[in-house]
Order: sequence, then structure tokens, then C-alpha cells
Amino acid sequence: MAGLKLTGIGKNGTVVAQQRRGFGERNPFRSESFRNANQITLDLTYLFDAPGNNSITRKELDSLIPNVMEAHRNLKENKGDIFDKGIAMTGWQDLPVRITQEHLQRITDTAHTLAARIDAYVSLGIGGSYLGIEATFRALSHHCFNQLDRDKRGGVPEVYFLGQNMDPDYFRDTLDMLEGKKVGLNVISKSGTTTETAIAFRIMRRLLEENWGEETKELIIVTTDKSKGALRKLAEQKGYTTFVVPDDIGGRFSVLSDVGLVGLAVAGIDIEEFVEGFRAMRSRCVQDEFWENPCLVHAAARYLAWMKGKKIEVVATNSSALYGVARWMEQLFPESEGHEGHGMWVSPSLYSEKLHANGQMVQEGERNILETFLFLQAHDSHMEIPWDEEDLDGLNFLPNNGLDMGHVNRKIIEGPAYAHYKGGVPCIIVEVPHRNAYVLGQLYYMMERSVAISGYLMGHNPFTQPGVEAYKRAMFALLGKPGFEQLQKEMGQEMEKRERIKI
Ligand code: PA5
Repeated sequence: MAGLKLTGIGKNGTVVAQQRRGFGERNPFRSESFRNANQITLDLTYLFDAPGNNSITRKELDSLIPNVMEAHRNLKENKGDIFDKGIAMTGWQDLPVRITQEHLQRITDTAHTLAARIDAYVSLGIGGSYLGIEATFRALSHHCFNQLDRDKRGGVPEVYFLGQNMDPDYFRDTLDMLEGKKVGLNVISKSGTTTETAIAFRIMRRLLEENWGEETKELIIVTTDKSKGALRKLAEQKGYTTFVVPDDIGGRFSVLSDVGLVGLAVAGIDIEEFVEGFRAMRSRCVQDEFWENPCLVHAAARYLAWMKGKKIEVVATNSSALYGVARWMEQLFPESEGHEGHGMWVSPSLYSEKLHANGQMVQEGERNILETFLFLQAHDSHMEIPWDEEDLDGLNFLPNNGLDMGHVNRKIIEGPAYAHYKGGVPCIIVEVPHRNAYVLGQLYYMMERSVAISGYLMGHNPFTQPGVEAYKRAMFALLGKPGFEQLQKEMGQEMEKRERIKI
């Protein structure tokens, strides 16, 4: 039987973009008109005075400005509670202007050499060594990237992620996709000892060594601390190509460092354009005029919302491609703010899908929600809605008025923003003009700087995550890792005393 023909369907804009990148065509990210058309905008139309008891007012926000400006000055001068093991963890704030052309070229050259050698690239890492890379890759790539022919991917290898969980079924399924292909790895871990990443790397390294022997060292990249840790030692012993996770940049702030750039370059993404996006937002965010500075306004709005009892931030997007960015925010904000009983829980949501799941709660449930929209304004592809003779679903008004699916999808943000605001939910709309690296760079930088300001406002260090260690210690004790015998004993005693309730 003949397969489906896509009659009357236009080109896939994402594939076109991937192929253009593959031919070396670049977005004109240095031109004024491109920059104007691709600038991130914060829209606060639905922030103030939502109906209900604990709305946010413009007056309250204005009263916060002196505190926010003080935090802004402290951040710029690297002052305050921003240290981890004696190092100011703010290396990310000037990285966009410190990063050199030579360094970007080294990354690009290494990435292209590896990409040309392999069929599939596997990025190994968790948390900040994973989420930003995946978010950026998914934001800019075809939804079913690995199922496309190499030509439609722009000539680059398939891309996979491992080491972000310990699910053997997920791992084994991924291996099925890799079977028979030439595989390259980038293992990313600042500490070099993260269990999930290390186990994934053990398995993959063994497979590569058994398949390609000596050549394995040309297939593995290690991204880790510049001088210490297990991975650094191994890389030196084996002669792997290495990249560095800077000392003064924590995982969740590291997407612009080698952590993110190497994998993005392998996937054919223009890393210079990405850096330019960071630079553009940085120059807006170092300004001292509050209302000209999107990160200060964003931080103040979120902090005020939290003060007024908004404990959940629904980060909703109308773009499947940007859902990963919402997941990146799900780490950035809670891991940075979740200290001393503080912080807003970030709930990534893809609309319309989620509107038919928890939309009732957002509209009429407990008024403890702030809603942030990542509002993609222009999609890559154009999908027309067919006119229908019978019009039983009553939708002919759409094609009659020349309205396509992208138009409907824009209303999937504008409609909920209006309705949820009327239901008492304050909203921040982040207008994301297009799916490109320049736009994402801006978005990441604004969020990173915003959460840093939030740390000052909440009164604690946003660059540490001591709480994450607690689960690791308990897991190591349960696994019987040497050095955790005492904790294992204590946990055993405590569990014995506990009433076991299983039904
Ligand atoms: O943001 C963070 O610091 C964390 O999410 C880390 O990135 C994550 O725990 C992975 O750590 P590592 O890179 O040391 O393996």
C-alpha cells in the first residue's frame, strides 16, 4: 500500500533551518534589523491588580526598587553571599564578553571533526550538565531529529542524552537506537564524580573500547574541572580531548560555557549567534535604570509575587520546542531559591496540552500561582487549516479569515493570559520572537541574572545547593558505598523504629 503523501502541506521550516545551517548559512545576527526583530520583550500587562485578595500592585513593585538596585550593584561588584568554597560563583555574568573568538573556533573545530566521524553523538550529564544543552538543542531542532535523514538534519549526527537518570529501560532503549552506528561521547561533569553520569560513562566507555579499541580516544570528549576530579585524571591517562567547566560557574549557570557549547556545535547550532544573544541581553541587564533593565524588572516581579503568597510559578509555553527551556527554568529557579524554606516551585507546562489537564486549577484553584508565559510569536512552519464543505465543527471561520494554526497557537497564550488574570493569577509574558540561538542566549542570560538578584532579595546564596547532597548521602548509604557505613547504620536503626504502613 502506498504511504502518505503530504499533498497541500508546505515546507518544514525547521528542516529548512537545519539544512541552511548545514550549508554554512548563518542568521545575520550582527545586523540591526535582525536584532530588532529578535529582541526578547517582557510584557507585564497582566501582572498588576489581578482580581482577588493578594494581588500585586505597581506601587508595591515601585517600593522594592531601592532593594533591587542594591542587589544589582552588589552583583556587579561581586559582593555579598555569592561564594562557594571561597570562589565568587558569578563567572557567568561577564562570560559573554570574556569568551574569545579563538576559543569558539577551537570548540567549533573539535565539534566538526567529531561530528564528521560519527553517526550518533551522546551527551552524558545531569542537572546543569544536561538541561541547558538539551533545552537549546530541542528549541532549535526538529521534534523527531534522530528519525530524519542526515541530510535533513543539516549533515550532523543523531543526538542522544544519557546519564540524567538511572532508568535501565531508558538506557537500554537508547542503546537500541545506537546499535550499528558509530558513536561519539561527551561526558560532562564538573565534579567528575556524579553517580548517574559516572555509571552511564562506564557503560558507554566499555562499549566504545570494545568496538573501536585505540580509536576510542578520538571519539570521547571530557568536559570537567580544569585540574581536579576523577574525570580529569582519566582523561589525562587516556588522552581524551578535554573541555573545562569553569571554577566560578555552577552547573545551572553553565550553558554558555564549554558545558553547552561543545554539544550545540556538534548538533550544528551556530554558537557565535548564541553568544551574541547572551551579549545583547547582558548589555541590557547591566544598565542601572530599573525600568530599562529586563532582569531587574523580572526579578522584582517574581520576588513580589513570592512575598504575596505565590508559591508556584507555572511556566507555560505554546511551543513544544521551548518546553525544554521551561524545564531548564525548573532547575535554575528552585535549585537556586530553595533555601531556608524559601522559593517558588516552577511547573513547566505545554499549552494547550496542560490547559486540559490542570487548567481548572490555574483558573479557579488556590490563588498561590504566578504564571510566566514563554510566548513564541513566530513558528518555523506554516500550517493552513483546510476549509470544509460541511463545516460540522464550525471552524470554517478560520480559513475564511485567512487564519492558520500558528494564529490559533498565539491565542493559546493570549486567551489563558486574559482568563487566568481575571481568575486572580498574575502573569508575566516573555515574548520570544523566533526559534533561534540569538533569542535563546538572551532568554538564558536574563533568567540567570534574575535568579541571582532573587538570591540577594530572599537573603541567601543562590549558587549553592547543599540540599542536593542529602539525597546523595542517603542513596550512597543504601547502596553500601564505602565511607557511608555510619549513616547506613543510623538509617537502619531509624527505619526499625518507624511504623511500616503498607496497604
Ligand atoms: O546546577 C548544579 O550545580 C547541578 O545541577 C549540577 O550541574 C549537577 O548536580 C551535575 O553536577 P556535575 O556536573 O558535578 O556532575
